[in-house]
Amino acid sequence: MTTEIRTTALSMVAPKRGLLAADESTGTIKKRFDAISVESTEENRRAYRDLLFTTDGSEEFISGVILFDETIRQSSVDGTPFPKLLASKEILPGIKVDKGAKDLAGFPGEKVTEGLDGLRERLAEYYELGAKFAKWRAVIDIADGIPTDYCIRANAHALARYAKLCQEASIAPIVEPEVLMDGDHDLEHCYEVTHRTLAIVFAELAEHRVDLPGMILKPNMVISGKKCPEQATAEEIAEATVSCFRETVPAAVPGIMFLSGGQSEEEATRNLNAINQRGVQPWAFSFSYGRALQQSALQAWKGDAGNVPAAQKAYFHRAKCNGAACEGTYSAELEQELVTA
Ligand code: 13P
Repeated sequence: MTTEIRTTALSMVAPKRGLLAADESTGTIKKRFDAISVESTEENRRAYRDLLFTTDGSEEFISGVILFDETIRQSSVDGTPFPKLLASKEILPGIKVDKGAKDLAGFPGEKVTEGLDGLRERLAEYYELGAKFAKWRAVIDIADGIPTDYCIRANAHALARYAKLCQEASIAPIVEPEVLMDGDHDLEHCYEVTHRTLAIVFAELAEHRVDLPGMILKPNMVISGKKCPEQATAEEIAEATVSCFRETVPAAVPGIMFLSGGQSEEEATRNLNAINQRGVQPWAFSFSYGRALQQSALQAWKGDAGNVPAAQKAYFHRAKCNGAACEGTYSAELEQELVTA
């Protein structure tokens, strides 16, 4: 059991590779489709995921894909189940298992992620369906008087319970405590909250005997809030992010795979690149992007089968740029490649 999850975790952060987060819940994918005026039907969702998963050569930069419950049960147009299709390209199939962030009773403005009930049974089924890793996202918001330590602890407790259940089922857990970037807070404030969150999360993981080499951390970068008038540079973000993790994340964790959290595609790539330019660290720094890998592809697709090649090109390009950012070799020239191709 330990060997399998450790091997999985290491494969997820193989050199130049990262994750595609394609696990948008039914509500979230509807929002994405609304933006391109595509109806969110089961077939449209299947066709869109099919386009991403069958992109030729994407496996060079994509080590795994996080799926939603509906998607792990769907198939490619030729009838191959998605988990099987991905595995045939040496892309690990993963599954989102949390049931979403709900209002935390007694703590206005704060959330706790649900989904522990019946999780052991669900994990056994997902393993049968081919899932090698799982994801659970906790949400920590920054605003006046929040986050409270209680909210962080409640979320950390759930993350640890989830992570250990995954490991029992031979599934490598992605532990995702996301400090949101929606507010007007500055970089220092994000640093303080991220530091506090990670310290509490790793204390809970240790108490629950979670095998650190058999898990992946999926955090936010330490970054200025979207509404902060003074936006930090990529170098400032990289310096703050690396120093925050060096103080809180045990070296036994093999990989830190960032979420994009509302950064633009290019920002997310640039920041990851700057982080990887800061020299050798105990963990691999890679990506587990949703929006920052899919935005251009969605825009190019617009629900039209005739646009599939253009959408696949856009997705491949982002994957390639982020693959380079994993090694700190992303450049303006590489970014331009798609335009000049
Ligand atoms: P974003 O990269 O769009 O933030 O999504 C990643 C993710 O999986 C959040 O849970």
